[in-house]
Amino acid sequence: MKKIGVLTSGGDAPGMNACIRAIVRYGISRKLEVVGIRGGYRGILAKDIVKLGSRSVANIIHRGGTILETARCDEMKTEQGIRKANETLQSEGIEGLITIGGDGTFRGAVALAEAGDVKLIGVPGTIDNDVYGTDYTIGFDTAINTALGAIDKIRDTAGSLQRPFFVEVMGKTRGFIALEVGIAGGAEEILIPELPTKIEQLSLDISRSFKKGKKSSIVIVAEGDDAGGAFSIAQQVWERLGLEYRICVLGHVQRGGCPTARDRVLASKLGAAAVDALLEGKAGYMVGEFKGDITLTALRETWEKRKDLDSNSLRLIKALSG
Ligand code: F6P
Repeated sequence: MKKIGVLTSGGDAPGMNACIRAIVRYGISRKLEVVGIRGGYRGILAKDIVKLGSRSVANIIHRGGTILETARCDEMKTEQGIRKANETLQSEGIEGLITIGGDGTFRGAVALAEAGDVKLIGVPGTIDNDVYGTDYTIGFDTAINTALGAIDKIRDTAGSLQRPFFVEVMGKTRGFIALEVGIAGGAEEILIPELPTKIEQLSLDISRSFKKGKKSSIVIVAEGDDAGGAFSIAQQVWERLGLEYRICVLGHVQRGGCPTARDRVLASKLGAAAVDALLEGKAGYMVGEFKGDITLTALRETWEKRKDLDSNSLRLIKALSG
């Protein structure tokens, strides 16, 4: 293999740049030519491809977002789009492609690989941490630390004015972010898509906690909770308790910023592992880190298998909110 490409797709995540840097520099050290495809899969279709050298990835290890930019590309869901993309990869001489992203990115990668000759390796990059085959995805650690910084500040004002706060964090279908920041932020309640939310019980718990003398009640709501977002849930609780409350939707703040050391290290290790995988002739896998070891998981499994939430953490929340 002589030439490989790298792209980022779907939602950007802090640490993607550190991963691009690792792929480029490690690839060059292994005598590969590396090109960057800009704007995700759309960049293949538009032939928006740039040669990357060691200097092109200087001073990006600490930057959030992705220098290659990203997109969600509908054309890649069509047969015609896949065919066109494979033709471009072939005409550009790109034999191996590393795609950094979440499950949507990997679905696109599999469709591409099944219809052409390019060798594909995925790297998990999403703040959601909802990808099977790796303990952590690139960006998750930064996102939870960003959310935590905000929650710590909210706690100061919530306690001073003795009001319940409903804080909405990202996570459309999974509650990994909510669970982690809930524990680290000492939340009283965590509402996640994996568990049905019972408004009656939630209202009772909030009311009891104030009666016990607690000064604040922080409820972390994952955006995809079945009872609705923070606005809807807060309103439903207010209808039962009549307690003045406040809402904070953290939103895309969680997606930006300087990646944490953990995310930079993970990104660097997985970037190099992706290059190694291609050089060893592997294709159709995602590189991940599982209990400290670098692993390969068939790309399909990354979305067909479900990554479990830690049930101990769920139990811990209740015990510690006392
Ligand atoms: O997948 C990452 C993520 O940040 C989710 O947590 C969130 O639901 C979604 O992307 C938001 O997407 P967009 O940036 O398109 O609004």
